[in-house]
Amino acid sequence: MDVMEKAVALAPDSWMPGGDPDPLIRAKHGSIGASISRIDGPLKVRGAAPFAAEFALDGMLYAALMFSTVPKGRIATLDTAAAEAAPGVALVMTHRNAPRMKPMPLFMTAEKAGGGDNLPIMQDDRIHWNGQPIAVVLADTQEQADYAVSLIRATYEAEPALTSYAAAKAKGTEPGLFMGQPLQAQKGDAEAAFAKAPVRVDGRYATPRHNHNAIEPHAATVMWQGDKLIVHDASQAVQHTAWSLGDVFGIAEEQVHVTSPFVGGGFGGKCLWQHQVLGAAAAKLAGRPVRIALSREGVYRLIGGRTLTEQRFAIGAEPDGRFVSLIHTGTAPTSRQNAFPEPFILPTMSSYGSPNIKLDVETVHLDMLANTFMRAPGESVGTFAMESAIDEMAVALGIDPVELRILNQPTEDPLKGTPFSSRHIAEAWRAGAERFGWSKRNPTAASVRDGEWLVGMGCATATYPYHRMPGGAARITLTRDGGAKVEIAAHEMGMGTATAHTQVVAERLGLSRDQVTFAYGDSMFPGVVLAGGSQQTASIGASVIAAHHVLIKELLKLAGNDSPLAGLSAEEVGTVNGGLAKLDDTSRHESYVSILTRSGRDHVSAEGSASAPLETMHWSMHSFGALFCEIGVNSVTGESRVRRFLGSYDCGRILNPKTAASQFRGGIIMGLGLALMEETQFDERNGRIMNPSLAEYHIPVHLDVPEIEVIWTDIPDPRAPMGARGIGEIGITGVGAAVANAVFNATGKRIRDLPLTLDKLM
Ligand code: MOS
Repeated sequence: MDVMEKAVALAPDSWMPGGDPDPLIRAKHGSIGASISRIDGPLKVRGAAPFAAEFALDGMLYAALMFSTVPKGRIATLDTAAAEAAPGVALVMTHRNAPRMKPMPLFMTAEKAGGGDNLPIMQDDRIHWNGQPIAVVLADTQEQADYAVSLIRATYEAEPALTSYAAAKAKGTEPGLFMGQPLQAQKGDAEAAFAKAPVRVDGRYATPRHNHNAIEPHAATVMWQGDKLIVHDASQAVQHTAWSLGDVFGIAEEQVHVTSPFVGGGFGGKCLWQHQVLGAAAAKLAGRPVRIALSREGVYRLIGGRTLTEQRFAIGAEPDGRFVSLIHTGTAPTSRQNAFPEPFILPTMSSYGSPNIKLDVETVHLDMLANTFMRAPGESVGTFAMESAIDEMAVALGIDPVELRILNQPTEDPLKGTPFSSRHIAEAWRAGAERFGWSKRNPTAASVRDGEWLVGMGCATATYPYHRMPGGAARITLTRDGGAKVEIAAHEMGMGTATAHTQVVAERLGLSRDQVTFAYGDSMFPGVVLAGGSQQTASIGASVIAAHHVLIKELLKLAGNDSPLAGLSAEEVGTVNGGLAKLDDTSRHESYVSILTRSGRDHVSAEGSASAPLETMHWSMHSFGALFCEIGVNSVTGESRVRRFLGSYDCGRILNPKTAASQFRGGIIMGLGLALMEETQFDERNGRIMNPSLAEYHIPVHLDVPEIEVIWTDIPDPRAPMGARGIGEIGITGVGAAVANAVFNATGKRIRDLPLTLDKLM
């Protein structure tokens, strides 16, 4: 821990955000916790919700991209004559005529830096990865643009590239960093304790590359108005994108307006990549608006995915099951133009107690497309190793895997020693085991048959931290007609953000949901609120709390001396029934409408900035889940069929059970893909992705998805806004191990490399 972290850890609770729990965690009835259908559902069903590739602008041109076919070197010849002469073509942009631009500011190198890589974009003839865009064609229709691209001829002077992971590793690894922090941690002497431990397991686990496959491929509709750039984007980071595009084109942040009203899934892949920059550059050159919508192949060529991992997970235990040593180490490659070794040790930092812990992620650099965040980066694949190893230890000890996990729960943060804000994982395990019928499991592997199917049950822990990033801010406006509007540069990517926060705002202001408008997805709104790290709900919550405090003060000023509220301070009042009231005497009440009417105002607006997120340094804040899987493995074909799945979560307060269940289920389904089928086929000889389509990159379809039951503790976290810890990413975590452990119970085969395809089970 650094000095700042230590000071915050030791400071009094009351100095921290969350030191006085958000009053809304006590709200038992009303909007919070109500199962509300998505407020944007009817718009989506009617086709009236505009996505990025649906903005139609006058005189708009359609873009298509040509991708390099070598991983490194330079473009020797690039013949665009036939494309330029093709029907409907308005412009072909290459490095020869592209406007001068700076590289994208790499994500996290500045507060609003959002770039996926920091390479020059079409500024020279250099090739940096196999699939790099080398030409943009603009035409009157998408079909004309796609056809014209096929007429471009390129040759390359290839240079030796490092595209083989094994070759890169043979040259040596270097310590990995994640968000500037080392991915190494030590407590005690884990290797020595492991060597002496009476019971030991020591496994090597592997996970492959994964690609982003949001149902909506990446797209942007772009227009210049003079030196003002307007981008209708599919984004989980509108402020980052606006600021970063300003930096690329050398214009002020205020000259860039990014909107993103609806997004068909983000998962960490929808920040700023080269296509928005290329679309804006081509629009500038052509002097016309441009729509750049990536094909599915385009997403594979241009948008980074999850990198592969090789992990060691070793556990030393006493015969009674108590862990004495945890070792989680390994390697994950990243690209040269970013730095993102998949941080697979993250789940091991907080899941189990042990006097000795050693964690280390090493990295190597390959000539490949920049890899990136993909739902629960670190935890989704790290839990595969951790929770498989725990299962192996349970077998070695002859202890039930649920009991072994409960036995090894830590009483404080295993590495930092800080107290947990709220941790009810044992309750989640007990409730899940009961509901799933875990007691009916036969602990002897390969002992249950159903015809030609071998049937087994497995379990695993899910986990994801509570985050809240700095920069949250919101504006609340009350109008004399009794309505309230909240504006915040947040994002709705299908998770239910707009719905859940309409509920929260209604509750916080003492209004009904139909009086509240939650406006988001626009860089003109306040706040730097990334829809990532499962932190958007906390960030919005804290921002609205801040704006609400300012609003109450403004209202008291307007209320003046003739109000029942006269003389009261902001601390003495709260929002009650469409107005303000004295907290301990609600008969002293005046409605917002009355305050505005008496003061002759048609509206009042208040903007507030969220406090710095110090709570995560003071408390150890994590969500957990207990996962249960029943699988059938065909003894003839090796085919796996998940029969039942249950997730029992402890994520604090659940704001909307309907949208939350959908979030959890979606995450679990993504986890089933990770467990059973997802794998980017990366040609190690030339760095080419060989399966850039949903025909060859397999994700679960409806027939692959069984009944999935989701339950939760619903115990509010007193330190989080609304008591809610965020649920976007935890769903995918642990699923790989729950499935692999069920396969072991069914077949007696321990598969340590994902995906669990049938060739590994024959
Ligand atoms: Mo997420 S991988 O932080 O969108």
